[in-house]
Amino acid sequence: MELKNNQYYIDNIKLRDLCKQYGTPLYVYDGNKIETQFNKLVKAFEGVPFKVKYACKANTNINILKLLKNLGCGQDAVSINDVKIGLRVGFQSQEIMYTPNMVGMDEIHEAVKLGVHINIDSISILKQFGEYYGNKVPVCIRINPHILAGGNYKISTGHINSKFGISIARINEVHDIIASTGLKVEGLHFHNGSDIQDADAFIQGLDIMLGEALSFTDSYYKHLEYIDFGGGFKVAYRDEDKAVDIEEIGRKTVEKFQSFCKEFGRQLTLCCEPGKFIVSEAGILLGTTEVVKQTGNTVFAGINTGLNHLIRPMMYDAYHKIINISNPGGDAQTYTVVGNICETDTFGKDRQLAEVREGDILGILNAGAYGFSMSSQYNSRFRPAEALVYKSKAHLIRKREVFEDLLRNQVEVEL
Ligand code: LLP
Repeated sequence: MELKNNQYYIDNIKLRDLCKQYGTPLYVYDGNKIETQFNKLVKAFEGVPFKVKYACKANTNINILKLLKNLGCGQDAVSINDVKIGLRVGFQSQEIMYTPNMVGMDEIHEAVKLGVHINIDSISILKQFGEYYGNKVPVCIRINPHILAGGNYKISTGHINSKFGISIARINEVHDIIASTGLKVEGLHFHNGSDIQDADAFIQGLDIMLGEALSFTDSYYKHLEYIDFGGGFKVAYRDEDKAVDIEEIGRKTVEKFQSFCKEFGRQLTLCCEPGKFIVSEAGILLGTTEVVKQTGNTVFAGINTGLNHLIRPMMYDAYHKIINISNPGGDAQTYTVVGNICETDTFGKDRQLAEVREGDILGILNAGAYGFSMSSQYNSRFRPAEALVYKSKAHLIRKREVFEDLLRNQVEVEL
Protein backbone atom coordinates (compact mmCIF):
# COMPACT_ATOMS: atom_id res chain seq x y z
CA MET A 1 0.00 0.00 0.00
CA GLU A 2 1.31 3.47 -0.74
CA LEU A 3 0.28 7.05 -0.12
CA LYS A 4 0.49 9.32 -3.17
CA ASN A 5 -1.06 12.80 -3.40
CA ASN A 6 -3.09 12.23 -0.28
CA GLN A 7 -4.59 8.97 -1.58
CA TYR A 8 -3.89 5.41 -0.52
CA TYR A 9 -3.27 2.93 -3.31
CA ILE A 10 -2.68 -0.77 -3.67
CA ASP A 11 -0.95 -1.40 -6.94
CA ASN A 12 -2.24 1.85 -8.46
CA ILE A 13 -5.81 1.19 -7.40
CA LYS A 14 -7.27 3.76 -5.04
CA LEU A 15 -8.67 2.26 -1.86
CA ARG A 16 -11.38 4.92 -1.84
CA ASP A 17 -12.50 3.82 -5.29
CA LEU A 18 -12.79 0.24 -4.06
CA CYS A 19 -14.98 1.45 -1.20
CA LYS A 20 -17.18 3.34 -3.67
CA GLN A 21 -17.42 0.34 -5.92
CA TYR A 22 -17.95 -2.43 -3.37
CA GLY A 23 -19.15 -0.54 -0.30
CA THR A 24 -17.89 -0.90 3.27
CA PRO A 25 -17.07 -2.71 5.44
CA LEU A 26 -14.67 -4.28 3.01
CA TYR A 27 -11.64 -6.50 3.28
CA VAL A 28 -9.06 -5.74 0.60
CA TYR A 29 -6.13 -8.07 -0.08
CA ASP A 30 -2.99 -7.22 -1.97
CA GLY A 31 -2.20 -10.29 -4.09
CA ASN A 32 1.25 -8.99 -4.98
CA LYS A 33 2.14 -8.80 -1.28
CA ILE A 34 0.99 -12.42 -0.83
CA GLU A 35 3.23 -13.40 -3.71
CA THR A 36 6.19 -11.49 -2.27
CA GLN A 37 5.80 -13.17 1.12
CA PHE A 38 5.58 -16.62 -0.45
CA ASN A 39 8.68 -15.98 -2.55
CA LYS A 40 10.56 -14.67 0.48
CA LEU A 41 9.90 -17.95 2.27
CA VAL A 42 10.99 -20.09 -0.62
CA LYS A 43 14.16 -18.08 -1.01
CA ALA A 44 15.01 -18.27 2.69
CA PHE A 45 15.02 -22.07 2.59
CA GLU A 46 16.99 -22.59 -0.60
CA GLY A 47 19.42 -25.47 -0.31
CA VAL A 48 17.07 -28.27 0.76
CA PRO A 49 13.92 -29.72 -0.80
CA PHE A 50 11.34 -27.40 0.75
CA LYS A 51 7.57 -27.29 0.69
CA VAL A 52 5.31 -24.51 1.97
CA LYS A 53 1.79 -25.53 2.91
CA TYR A 54 -0.37 -22.48 3.45
CA ALA A 55 -2.36 -22.70 6.72
CA CYS A 56 -5.66 -21.85 5.12
CA LYS A 57 -7.46 -21.25 8.42
CA ALA A 58 -5.89 -17.79 8.20
CA ASN A 59 -7.97 -16.97 5.15
CA THR A 60 -9.98 -19.49 3.19
CA ASN A 61 -11.09 -17.36 0.29
CA ILE A 62 -10.75 -19.64 -2.72
CA ASN A 63 -9.04 -16.96 -4.77
CA ILE A 64 -6.26 -16.60 -2.25
CA LEU A 65 -5.87 -20.35 -2.23
CA LYS A 66 -5.83 -20.36 -6.02
CA LEU A 67 -3.22 -17.62 -6.17
CA LEU A 68 -0.99 -19.60 -3.80
CA LYS A 69 -1.59 -22.86 -5.63
CA ASN A 70 -0.47 -21.20 -8.85
CA LEU A 71 2.75 -20.16 -7.13
CA GLY A 72 3.48 -23.78 -6.20
CA CYS A 73 2.31 -23.64 -2.60
CA GLY A 74 0.58 -26.56 -0.85
CA GLN A 75 -2.24 -26.39 1.67
CA ASP A 76 -2.49 -27.07 5.39
CA ALA A 77 -6.06 -28.04 6.28
CA VAL A 78 -7.54 -28.55 9.74
CA SER A 79 -11.00 -29.78 8.90
CA ILE A 80 -12.52 -31.97 6.24
CA ASN A 81 -14.17 -28.92 4.75
CA ASP A 82 -10.82 -27.13 4.52
CA VAL A 83 -9.71 -30.20 2.55
CA LYS A 84 -12.75 -30.05 0.28
CA ILE A 85 -12.22 -26.35 -0.35
CA GLY A 86 -8.61 -27.08 -1.34
CA LEU A 87 -9.64 -29.83 -3.72
CA ARG A 88 -12.33 -27.59 -5.19
CA VAL A 89 -9.66 -24.95 -5.83
CA GLY A 90 -7.59 -27.52 -7.68
CA PHE A 91 -4.88 -28.58 -5.23
CA GLN A 92 -3.77 -32.13 -5.90
CA SER A 93 -4.66 -34.27 -2.89
CA GLN A 94 -0.97 -34.92 -2.29
CA GLU A 95 -0.44 -31.17 -1.91
CA ILE A 96 -2.77 -31.09 1.08
CA MET A 97 -1.87 -31.89 4.67
CA TYR A 98 -4.82 -32.60 6.94
CA THR A 99 -4.00 -31.79 10.59
CA PRO A 100 -7.14 -32.09 12.68
CA ASN A 101 -7.34 -31.86 16.45
CA MET A 102 -9.85 -33.74 18.61
CA VAL A 103 -11.45 -35.27 15.55
CA GLY A 104 -12.72 -38.84 15.47
CA MET A 105 -12.09 -41.63 12.96
CA ASP A 106 -15.15 -40.90 10.80
CA GLU A 107 -13.72 -37.67 9.51
CA ILE A 108 -10.26 -39.18 9.23
CA HIS A 109 -11.62 -42.04 7.08
CA GLU A 110 -13.16 -39.42 4.83
CA ALA A 111 -9.84 -37.62 4.49
CA VAL A 112 -8.05 -40.90 3.70
CA LYS A 113 -10.59 -41.53 0.91
CA LEU A 114 -9.80 -38.08 -0.49
CA GLY A 115 -6.13 -39.06 -0.66
CA VAL A 116 -4.60 -36.26 1.39
CA HIS A 117 -1.73 -36.54 3.86
CA ILE A 118 -2.97 -37.40 7.32
CA ASN A 119 -1.39 -35.87 10.41
CA ILE A 120 -2.42 -37.42 13.72
CA ASP A 121 -2.07 -35.73 17.09
CA SER A 122 -3.29 -38.17 19.74
CA ILE A 123 -2.22 -41.61 20.97
CA SER A 124 -5.78 -42.87 20.85
CA ILE A 125 -6.39 -41.95 17.21
CA LEU A 126 -2.92 -43.09 16.17
CA LYS A 127 -3.69 -46.50 17.62
CA GLN A 128 -7.07 -46.72 15.92
CA PHE A 129 -5.54 -45.54 12.67
CA GLY A 130 -2.77 -48.14 12.89
CA GLU A 131 -5.18 -50.94 13.73
CA TYR A 132 -7.41 -50.02 10.81
CA TYR A 133 -4.92 -49.15 8.07
CA GLY A 134 -1.72 -50.89 9.17
CA ASN A 135 0.94 -50.03 6.60
CA LYS A 136 -1.59 -49.31 3.83
CA VAL A 137 -1.93 -45.56 4.41
CA PRO A 138 1.11 -43.49 5.36
CA VAL A 139 0.78 -41.15 8.27
CA CYS A 140 2.43 -38.11 9.77
CA ILE A 141 2.66 -37.78 13.55
CA ARG A 142 2.23 -34.45 15.32
CA ILE A 143 4.47 -34.24 18.35
CA ASN A 144 4.07 -31.73 21.14
CA PRO A 145 7.70 -30.81 21.87
CA HIS A 146 6.93 -28.99 25.17
CA ILE A 147 8.13 -25.63 23.94
CA LEU A 148 6.36 -22.49 25.12
CA ALA A 149 6.42 -19.93 22.32
CA GLY A 150 4.00 -17.53 20.67
CA GLY A 151 2.53 -14.07 21.01
CA ASN A 152 0.23 -15.00 23.88
CA TYR A 153 -0.86 -18.10 25.76
CA LYS A 154 -4.08 -18.52 23.77
CA ILE A 155 -2.13 -19.03 20.58
CA SER A 156 0.71 -21.11 22.02
CA THR A 157 0.26 -24.74 21.05
CA GLY A 158 3.55 -26.53 21.65
CA HIS A 159 3.76 -26.33 25.44
CA ILE A 160 3.25 -29.08 27.98
CA ASN A 161 -0.31 -28.06 28.87
CA SER A 162 -1.51 -27.67 25.30
CA LYS A 163 -4.25 -29.86 23.82
CA PHE A 164 -2.26 -30.21 20.59
CA GLY A 165 0.08 -32.95 19.52
CA ILE A 166 1.30 -36.11 21.20
CA SER A 167 3.42 -35.23 24.18
CA ILE A 168 7.07 -35.95 23.52
CA ALA A 169 7.04 -37.57 26.96
CA ARG A 170 4.81 -40.30 25.51
CA ILE A 171 7.00 -41.10 22.54
CA ASN A 172 7.53 -44.67 23.76
CA GLU A 173 3.83 -45.32 23.31
CA VAL A 174 4.11 -44.01 19.76
CA HIS A 175 6.94 -46.46 19.14
CA ASP A 176 4.86 -49.32 20.50
CA ILE A 177 1.94 -48.45 18.21
CA ILE A 178 4.20 -48.26 15.17
CA ALA A 179 5.77 -51.57 16.06
CA SER A 180 2.52 -53.38 16.76
CA THR A 181 0.46 -52.06 13.84
CA GLY A 182 3.15 -51.69 11.19
CA LEU A 183 2.24 -48.03 10.64
CA LYS A 184 4.16 -46.38 7.84
CA VAL A 185 5.33 -43.05 9.25
CA GLU A 186 5.96 -40.65 6.39
CA GLY A 187 6.31 -37.44 8.42
CA LEU A 188 7.07 -35.92 11.80
CA HIS A 189 5.42 -32.62 12.64
CA PHE A 190 5.25 -29.95 15.31
CA HIS A 191 3.69 -26.51 15.50
CA ASN A 192 4.60 -24.30 18.43
CA GLY A 193 1.97 -21.60 18.01
CA SER A 194 1.44 -18.25 16.36
CA ASP A 195 3.27 -14.89 16.47
CA ILE A 196 6.66 -16.44 17.18
CA GLN A 197 9.56 -14.08 16.74
CA ASP A 198 12.33 -16.17 18.21
CA ALA A 199 14.20 -18.36 15.72
CA ASP A 200 15.28 -20.65 18.56
CA ALA A 201 11.73 -21.88 19.15
CA PHE A 202 11.77 -23.38 15.65
CA ILE A 203 15.31 -24.69 15.96
CA GLN A 204 14.62 -26.35 19.32
CA GLY A 205 11.56 -28.10 17.95
CA LEU A 206 13.43 -29.19 14.88
CA ASP A 207 16.27 -30.56 17.03
CA ILE A 208 13.78 -32.73 18.88
CA MET A 209 12.23 -34.08 15.65
CA LEU A 210 15.58 -34.71 13.98
CA GLY A 211 16.95 -36.38 17.10
CA GLU A 212 13.92 -38.65 17.25
CA ALA A 213 14.27 -39.56 13.56
CA LEU A 214 17.99 -40.28 13.93
CA SER A 215 17.48 -42.48 16.97
CA PHE A 216 15.17 -44.83 15.11
CA THR A 217 16.18 -44.48 11.48
CA ASP A 218 16.03 -48.16 10.67
CA SER A 219 13.07 -49.08 12.78
CA TYR A 220 10.18 -46.66 13.21
CA TYR A 221 11.20 -44.13 10.56
CA LYS A 222 12.28 -46.30 7.62
CA HIS A 223 9.65 -44.64 5.46
CA LEU A 224 10.13 -41.08 6.64
CA GLU A 225 9.83 -38.52 3.84
CA TYR A 226 9.43 -35.14 5.50
CA ILE A 227 9.78 -33.10 8.67
CA ASP A 228 7.24 -30.31 9.13
CA PHE A 229 8.08 -27.53 11.58
CA GLY A 230 4.68 -25.84 11.46
CA GLY A 231 3.93 -22.16 11.10
CA GLY A 232 3.70 -19.22 13.46
CA PHE A 233 6.19 -16.75 11.95
CA LYS A 234 5.56 -13.39 13.53
CA VAL A 235 4.63 -10.37 11.48
CA ALA A 236 4.98 -6.80 12.76
CA TYR A 237 1.65 -5.49 13.98
CA ARG A 238 3.13 -2.41 15.65
CA ASP A 239 5.68 -0.12 14.02
CA GLU A 240 8.17 -1.05 16.71
CA ASP A 241 7.47 -4.81 16.55
CA LYS A 242 10.26 -7.06 15.40
CA ALA A 243 8.96 -9.52 12.85
CA VAL A 244 10.49 -12.94 12.61
CA ASP A 245 13.82 -12.99 10.79
CA ILE A 246 12.89 -15.54 8.16
CA GLU A 247 16.34 -15.45 6.56
CA GLU A 248 17.90 -16.36 9.91
CA ILE A 249 15.48 -19.24 10.44
CA GLY A 250 16.08 -20.35 6.87
CA ARG A 251 19.86 -20.26 7.22
CA LYS A 252 19.86 -22.13 10.51
CA THR A 253 17.34 -24.79 9.59
CA VAL A 254 18.77 -25.46 6.14
CA GLU A 255 22.20 -26.05 7.61
CA LYS A 256 20.82 -28.31 10.28
CA PHE A 257 18.61 -30.19 7.87
CA GLN A 258 21.41 -30.77 5.38
CA SER A 259 23.65 -32.40 7.95
CA PHE A 260 20.70 -34.34 9.36
CA CYS A 261 19.93 -35.80 5.93
CA LYS A 262 23.54 -36.89 5.52
CA GLU A 263 23.45 -38.70 8.81
CA PHE A 264 19.99 -40.09 8.18
CA GLY A 265 21.25 -41.50 4.88
CA ARG A 266 18.48 -40.10 2.70
CA GLN A 267 17.31 -36.76 1.42
CA LEU A 268 14.06 -35.75 3.10
CA THR A 269 11.85 -32.72 2.51
CA LEU A 270 11.52 -29.86 4.95
CA CYS A 271 8.00 -28.44 5.26
CA CYS A 272 6.42 -25.49 6.98
CA GLU A 273 2.86 -24.23 7.19
CA PRO A 274 2.52 -20.52 7.83
CA GLY A 275 -0.72 -18.58 7.62
CA LYS A 276 -0.06 -15.11 9.02
CA PHE A 277 3.32 -14.68 7.37
CA ILE A 278 1.76 -15.18 3.96
CA VAL A 279 -1.50 -13.24 4.18
CA SER A 280 -1.64 -11.00 7.26
CA GLU A 281 0.09 -7.90 5.95
CA ALA A 282 -1.66 -8.22 2.61
CA GLY A 283 -5.06 -7.46 4.14
CA ILE A 284 -6.78 -4.28 5.25
CA LEU A 285 -10.26 -3.94 6.72
CA LEU A 286 -11.96 -0.74 5.58
CA GLY A 287 -14.85 0.73 7.52
CA THR A 288 -16.77 3.98 7.26
CA THR A 289 -16.91 6.30 10.27
CA GLU A 290 -20.57 6.64 11.18
CA VAL A 291 -20.29 8.52 14.45
CA VAL A 292 -17.68 10.66 16.14
CA LYS A 293 -18.54 11.39 19.75
CA GLN A 294 -16.88 12.55 22.91
CA THR A 295 -17.57 11.03 26.31
CA GLY A 296 -15.48 12.35 29.17
CA ASN A 297 -12.04 12.82 27.75
CA THR A 298 -12.41 10.15 25.10
CA VAL A 299 -13.22 10.91 21.51
CA PHE A 300 -14.70 7.82 19.89
CA ALA A 301 -14.60 7.17 16.16
CA GLY A 302 -17.29 4.58 15.53
CA ILE A 303 -17.02 2.61 12.31
CA ASN A 304 -19.46 0.34 10.51
CA THR A 305 -17.64 -2.86 11.36
CA GLY A 306 -16.85 -4.53 14.66
CA LEU A 307 -15.64 -7.57 16.52
CA ASN A 308 -17.97 -9.59 14.31
CA HIS A 309 -15.58 -8.85 11.41
CA LEU A 310 -12.22 -8.70 13.15
CA ILE A 311 -12.14 -10.31 16.55
CA ARG A 312 -8.38 -10.27 17.16
CA PRO A 313 -8.24 -7.06 19.25
CA MET A 314 -10.96 -8.29 21.59
CA MET A 315 -9.94 -11.93 21.66
CA TYR A 316 -6.18 -11.61 22.03
CA ASP A 317 -5.74 -7.92 22.94
CA ALA A 318 -4.07 -7.80 19.56
CA TYR A 319 -2.80 -4.49 18.25
CA HIS A 320 -3.72 -3.45 14.72
CA LYS A 321 -2.51 -0.19 13.29
CA ILE A 322 -5.33 2.09 12.10
CA ILE A 323 -5.12 4.85 9.51
CA ASN A 324 -7.47 7.42 8.09
CA ILE A 325 -7.74 6.52 4.43
CA SER A 326 -9.88 9.43 3.31
CA ASN A 327 -8.24 12.28 5.21
CA PRO A 328 -4.58 11.31 5.52
CA GLY A 329 -3.47 14.92 5.56
CA GLY A 330 -5.70 15.92 8.50
CA ASP A 331 -4.22 17.17 11.77
CA ALA A 332 -3.37 14.34 14.15
CA GLN A 333 -5.78 13.90 17.05
CA THR A 334 -6.43 11.20 19.60
CA TYR A 335 -9.28 8.77 19.02
CA THR A 336 -10.50 5.51 20.38
CA VAL A 337 -11.66 3.53 17.40
CA VAL A 338 -14.63 1.28 18.09
CA GLY A 339 -17.06 -0.88 16.17
CA ASN A 340 -20.85 -0.87 16.02
CA ILE A 341 -21.47 -4.07 17.95
CA CYS A 342 -23.33 -4.06 21.24
CA GLU A 343 -20.24 -5.01 23.14
CA THR A 344 -17.14 -3.04 23.93
CA ASP A 345 -15.49 -3.70 20.61
CA THR A 346 -12.46 -1.48 20.70
CA PHE A 347 -10.16 -1.71 17.70
CA GLY A 348 -7.66 0.76 19.07
CA LYS A 349 -7.52 2.86 22.22
CA ASP A 350 -6.16 6.41 22.26
CA ARG A 351 -4.70 6.30 18.78
CA GLN A 352 -3.21 9.26 16.98
CA LEU A 353 -5.11 9.54 13.71
CA ALA A 354 -5.40 12.22 11.06
CA GLU A 355 -8.59 14.13 11.91
CA VAL A 356 -11.55 11.77 11.63
CA ARG A 357 -14.84 13.18 10.35
CA GLU A 358 -18.10 11.31 10.04
CA GLY A 359 -17.99 9.67 6.61
CA ASP A 360 -14.23 9.10 6.66
CA ILE A 361 -12.92 5.66 5.77
CA LEU A 362 -10.63 4.10 8.35
CA GLY A 363 -8.34 1.22 7.50
CA ILE A 364 -7.34 -1.47 9.99
CA LEU A 365 -4.03 -2.90 8.86
CA ASN A 366 -2.60 -6.39 9.02
CA ALA A 367 -6.04 -7.91 8.77
CA GLY A 368 -5.46 -10.50 6.05
CA ALA A 369 -5.04 -13.38 8.50
CA TYR A 370 -7.71 -14.53 10.96
CA GLY A 371 -9.91 -11.61 9.98
CA PHE A 372 -12.70 -12.73 7.69
CA SER A 373 -12.08 -16.38 8.55
CA MET A 374 -13.02 -15.71 12.19
CA SER A 375 -15.94 -13.40 11.37
CA SER A 376 -19.55 -13.96 12.34
CA GLN A 377 -23.04 -12.58 11.93
CA TYR A 378 -23.27 -11.46 15.56
CA ASN A 379 -25.89 -8.76 16.12
CA SER A 380 -27.55 -9.85 12.85
CA ARG A 381 -24.98 -8.00 10.82
CA PHE A 382 -23.77 -9.15 7.46
CA ARG A 383 -20.26 -10.39 7.03
CA PRO A 384 -18.25 -7.97 4.88
CA ALA A 385 -17.36 -8.19 1.22
CA GLU A 386 -13.83 -9.10 0.15
CA ALA A 387 -11.79 -7.72 -2.75
CA LEU A 388 -8.46 -8.80 -4.18
CA VAL A 389 -6.08 -6.53 -6.03
CA TYR A 390 -3.69 -8.57 -8.11
CA LYS A 391 -1.54 -7.63 -11.06
CA SER A 392 -3.07 -4.14 -11.12
CA LYS A 393 -6.63 -5.40 -11.31
CA ALA A 394 -9.33 -5.33 -8.66
CA HIS A 395 -11.73 -8.22 -8.19
CA LEU A 396 -14.69 -8.68 -5.90
CA ILE A 397 -13.96 -12.10 -4.39
CA ARG A 398 -16.82 -12.34 -1.93
CA LYS A 399 -20.15 -10.59 -2.10
CA ARG A 400 -21.48 -8.86 0.96
CA GLU A 401 -24.11 -10.96 2.67
CA VAL A 402 -27.78 -10.12 2.33
CA PHE A 403 -30.74 -10.44 4.67
CA GLU A 404 -31.57 -13.98 3.50
CA ASP A 405 -28.14 -15.13 4.69
CA LEU A 406 -29.11 -14.30 8.26
CA LEU A 407 -32.14 -16.57 8.10
CA ARG A 408 -30.60 -19.37 6.05
CA ASN A 409 -30.95 -22.68 7.86
CA GLN A 410 -33.21 -21.26 10.55
CA VAL A 411 -36.31 -23.41 10.69
CA GLU A 412 -39.53 -21.69 11.59
CA VAL A 413 -41.92 -23.95 13.44
CA GLU A 414 -45.58 -23.59 14.43
CA LEU A 415 -45.69 -22.44 18.04
N1 LLP B 1 -0.14 -25.05 11.59
C1 LLP B 1 -0.99 -25.39 12.56
C2 LLP B 1 -1.13 -26.79 12.95
C3 LLP B 1 -1.77 -24.38 13.18
O1 LLP B 1 -2.62 -24.71 14.15
C4 LLP B 1 -1.62 -23.03 12.77
C5 LLP B 1 -2.41 -21.98 13.39
C6 LLP B 1 -0.71 -22.74 11.74
C7 LLP B 1 0.01 -23.77 11.18
C8 LLP B 1 -0.50 -21.34 11.22
O2 LLP B 1 -0.07 -20.43 12.16
P1 LLP B 1 0.32 -18.95 11.68
O3 LLP B 1 1.49 -19.09 10.75
O4 LLP B 1 -0.84 -18.38 10.97
O5 LLP B 1 0.67 -18.20 12.91
N2 LLP B 1 -6.32 -16.82 15.38
C9 LLP B 1 -5.02 -16.57 15.97
C10 LLP B 1 -3.99 -17.54 15.46
C11 LLP B 1 -4.39 -18.96 15.69
C12 LLP B 1 -3.56 -19.90 14.93
C13 LLP B 1 -4.15 -21.25 14.89
N3 LLP B 1 -3.29 -22.20 14.28
C14 LLP B 1 -4.63 -15.13 15.70
O6 LLP B 1 -5.37 -14.41 15.05
O7 LLP B 1 -3.57 -14.69 16.17
